Amino acid sequence: RGAPPTIIVIFGASGDLTARKLIPALYNLGLDNLLPGDFHLIGYGRKPIPDEEFQADAEKDVNEFSRRPLNPDIWPQLKANIHYHAGGYDDPKAFAELREKCLDIEKKAGRDLQFVFYISTPPSVFKPILENLGSSGLAAHGKGTPLASKMIIEKPFGRDLATAQELNQIIANQFDEHQVFRIDHYLGKETVQDLMVLRFANTIFEPIWNRRYVDCVQITVAEDLGVGTRGGYYDTSGATRDMLQNHTMQLLALTAMEAPVSLGAEDIRDEKVKLLKSIQPLRLDPKDGDAVRAQYAEGLIGGEKVPGYLQEKDIPATSSTETFAALRMSINNWRWQGVPFYLRSGKRLARRVSEIAIQFKQPPGGLFTDPSRFDMAANTLVIQIQPDEGTTFLLNSKIPGLETRTQPVKMHFRYATTFGSNTPEAYERLILDAMVGDSTLFIRGDETETSWKLYTPLLEYWEECGRKGLDSYACGSWGPLSADRLLWESNHEWRRAGP
Ligand code: BG6
Repeated sequence: RGAPPTIIVIFGASGDLTARKLIPALYNLGLDNLLPGDFHLIGYGRKPIPDEEFQADAEKDVNEFSRRPLNPDIWPQLKANIHYHAGGYDDPKAFAELREKCLDIEKKAGRDLQFVFYISTPPSVFKPILENLGSSGLAAHGKGTPLASKMIIEKPFGRDLATAQELNQIIANQFDEHQVFRIDHYLGKETVQDLMVLRFANTIFEPIWNRRYVDCVQITVAEDLGVGTRGGYYDTSGATRDMLQNHTMQLLALTAMEAPVSLGAEDIRDEKVKLLKSIQPLRLDPKDGDAVRAQYAEGLIGGEKVPGYLQEKDIPATSSTETFAALRMSINNWRWQGVPFYLRSGKRLARRVSEIAIQFKQPPGGLFTDPSRFDMAANTLVIQIQPDEGTTFLLNSKIPGLETRTQPVKMHFRYATTFGSNTPEAYERLILDAMVGDSTLFIRGDETETSWKLYTPLLEYWEECGRKGLDSYACGSWGPLSADRLLWESNHEWRRAGP
């Protein structure tokens, strides 16, 4: 999986993501000898910074955020190929100079290089960056050859269907779809990649992975942190745009889709789109709808008092942005009709945990119905995305003894126990895949539009309602009561997420 000789340009080089994720990921790829012999990084940002200062910052980032310590034998070589370019995102001259810089590096290398543009900026500058990449000739570099430029872009891909379509059009004006890598970092997580292996490399699940055996599916993406310093961004987004429309939908699609024809990117993405298209429109009725939303109120996290959302920095006192949302989705196909898929995500919940729980139906017949002797739980397969990655199967067992009594028990598979804990970070895998040109773990344009099509009416409805119908939940809880009610309506209950 060797990547061709590459210059990667990161727009938004002084941002948080660059420091925490991108620089450490590139360093770890270097450490594993996965970067090409000719590899250059150019940080692009508005603030003028000398190369040496940017290199020193990168070294600090590795020391602070890398999963492995800085290796003094490898680092100097990488560091020497780190550059910085200051310029506005809407400044054609700065892009012309960037092109000169890239061509100069290429000339010195004495061979053709692939240019990869990583857009990690706020969405307000996506458009000028893409247009300037086009007009400067950078986007067209290597066109028609295996070294054609590539473009990696961070979310948000729009904030509703219309803006997603607009962004896709702006991208399509400069790049062909196969050159475009829309990041959803959940797809880079080992456990998410393992979903396909679990489902399709084992034979025992397929016969029961359907409406005959599955009672419901619960997908939880919970965080205990609040919005922290990201209030300005978060308040324009909310839990639904920030987590559900993208990360959680990817988990849903991989859980529910049909087996792809091959492991090729297009075959897998075709199946995901097909699945997303068969999800029914959400019912918006305030009493009997498929969605609830809420904001966190003051409460306790780890025994410490923490402020409510409206008291957080940069949050307007009248904000109606939801920090928690729960949805009930119905998939209208042969496999899943009648099986509710429940999704929930929120900040400041009881613990950080992401999991997919496949809950199976109760056994028929009246053998184990006496509750005084038989403590029974629904068979549940829990795919623990993070933390404590693994798979747990919940089944019922006889308690040893002369009487027949039962109790639910768990079978665990833990990644850390079997494989050790130092696995690559999502961004390592994703950056390498993009450099190599493998788009399997990236979102296709039509995929994001199909998801937005489902979410846009809900988001517009909530916007119209303002704070009306917005519930609240205490920090450190599992969300509002309305989220429980959503499941009670169909005789279900949220499971206590976690291994
Ligand atoms: C990001 C969201 O996409 O995912 C953040 O913008 C969220 O709000 C983060 O905290 C969660 O990622 P992870 O990998 O920690 O689950």
